[in-house]
Amino acid sequence: MRLLKQSRRVLQLHPHLLKFDFLKGHGLRYASFLHQEAYIGGKWVSASSGKTFTVANPANGKVIGHVPDMAEEDTQAAIDSAYEAFQSWKRTTAKERSILLRKWYDLMEAHKDDLALILTAEAGKPLAEARGEIGYGSSFLEWFAEEAKRIYGEVVPSPASSKEMIFIREPIGVVSLITPWNFPNAMITRKAGAALASGCTCVIKPAEDTPLSALAIADLAEKAGIPPGVVNVVTASRPNTPAVGNLLCTSPKVAGVSFTGSSAVGKLLYRLCSTGIKKIGLELGGNAPFIVFNSADLNKAIEGFLVAKFRNAGQTCISANRIYVQSGIYDQFLAACKEAISKRLVIGDGFSKEVNVGPLINQSQINKVEGLVNDSVKMGAELVLGGKRHDLGGLFFEPTILTQVSAEMPCIREEIFGPVAAIQKFETEEEVLAMANACPHGLAGYFFSQDISQVWRVARRLETGMIGINEGLISAAEAAFGGIKESGIGREGSRHGVDDYTHIKYLCMGGIN
Ligand code: SIN
Repeated sequence: MRLLKQSRRVLQLHPHLLKFDFLKGHGLRYASFLHQEAYIGGKWVSASSGKTFTVANPANGKVIGHVPDMAEEDTQAAIDSAYEAFQSWKRTTAKERSILLRKWYDLMEAHKDDLALILTAEAGKPLAEARGEIGYGSSFLEWFAEEAKRIYGEVVPSPASSKEMIFIREPIGVVSLITPWNFPNAMITRKAGAALASGCTCVIKPAEDTPLSALAIADLAEKAGIPPGVVNVVTASRPNTPAVGNLLCTSPKVAGVSFTGSSAVGKLLYRLCSTGIKKIGLELGGNAPFIVFNSADLNKAIEGFLVAKFRNAGQTCISANRIYVQSGIYDQFLAACKEAISKRLVIGDGFSKEVNVGPLINQSQINKVEGLVNDSVKMGAELVLGGKRHDLGGLFFEPTILTQVSAEMPCIREEIFGPVAAIQKFETEEEVLAMANACPHGLAGYFFSQDISQVWRVARRLETGMIGINEGLISAAEAAFGGIKESGIGREGSRHGVDDYTHIKYLCMGGIN
C-alpha cells in the first residue's frame, strides 16, 4: 500500500513518467525506476546534444519512452566518472563490495514483478519468461556478492630459500559492458556483478532496443548505495552506437571490454581493443547443434527441444539451431514436435497470460528470419509447419519446422535467431559429429541419448563451450557460460566469471634469511 502511494506521488512529480501509465494497468507498483535519462557519475542526465530516441514495444509498435541519444562527449563523461570512482572503489574491501552487491540483489528481488513488466514492454518477452529472466539476472548479483570474498591469490613454493613468491589478484580498472537486447536484464548483471565484485567500475551501453531495463537496474544500484561513478549507463541510438562503441573500446582510461552480441560486431570490437591491448570477454553467436540419438527418451528430447528452440522466440545465442535426429527415432520425433508446437505454443503479446512465444525484436530481425526461411525453401527445404509472418501481423512469426535441409542452406549455415527449427535426419554418430562440428561457431550444443558410453564419447567430441546432455535449459549463475571458436573468448558466471575483470600481479620478496 505504501509503495502504491509512493508510486502515485512519483508519477505526479515527474510528468515524463506518465508515458509509462499503461504499465500501471498491468500492475506496475512502483514507477520511480522508470527513467528516461541516462546515469552518469551518480546523476540522471540528458545527452549533451539534448537529443533523444524512442523505445517501442515490439508487440504493438507503440512508443513507450524516450531516452538520451548520447554521443562521444557523453561517453567520455561516463568513462571519466568511472575512472575517478575506480580510484576509491578499488580500495574497498571484498566484504564491503559483497554487502553492496547483496543489497542490489535484494532490491532486484523486491522489485522483480515491476522489472519483468518493463522487460516485457520493451523486449516483447512473455511475462512469465520475463520474470524468469529477472530471477536469472538477480542470481548473478547474489552469486558475485558471494564470489567477491573468494577472489584468492596464491603463495607459490619458491625455487630459492631467500625468496617468497606470491600472486595477488587486482581489479583491472574501468570496464565497458556492451549488452544485447535479448536479455536486457541478465546480461547486464552477469557482467556488472562480476566487475564490481572484482573491484572494477563500469560503463554500461545497453542495446538500443532495450535501454529501460538497464536504467531500472542502475536506479536500483543507486538505491543499494553503490557509490556514484561505479555504475554508469550510456544510452545511444543505432546511428550513434558505432562512435560510442569505438570510444568504449579505445579510450586509454578503459582497461577492458565485455560484449555479448553478434560475431560480426564481436570481431569489430576485438580489433578495436587490440590497439590498446585491452582485456576482452566476448560471448558471440551460436548455431547450436541439437542431436537426438535413437536411444533418447523421446519425451525428454521434446521438452528439451521446446525450451532450447522457442525460449525467447528463438532469440538466444544458445538456441537450438541445427536439429539432427537419428533415423530410428526421426518419424516419432517429427510427429511429436509438430504436436507439441501446435498444442503448446501460444503466440501473442507477452502481457497476455497464456502467451509463451512473443514477437521478434524489430523489423530487421523478422526480415532476416523470413528471408532465411524463404531462401532455404527455394533451395529445396520442405516446409512442414508455419513458415511465414503470423496473422497477428507486426513482428510475430509463426513457429516453423523445415525438413529436407542441408549444410549449404541458410537455415543451417546461419544462426536463425527466430522460432524456426531446421530438422535433418542422420544415420551414424560419426556422421552427425562431423556435421555438428563443421561450423565456425561453438557456443552451446545439446544431445539426447540414454547410452552412457555414447554420452561420454559425444560430450568429449562435440566442439562447443557448453553442452546440455538430456537437457535443454543450461543457463545458471553457477555455470561457466561461454564458447569456443568464433563464439567468443572468456567465461561468464561461475567462479571463472571474475577472470576477465582481474589480473594477476606477481610479488617476489627477496633477501629472506
Ligand atoms: C544469450 O543469448 O546471449 C544468453 C543466453 C543465456 O544466458 O541463457
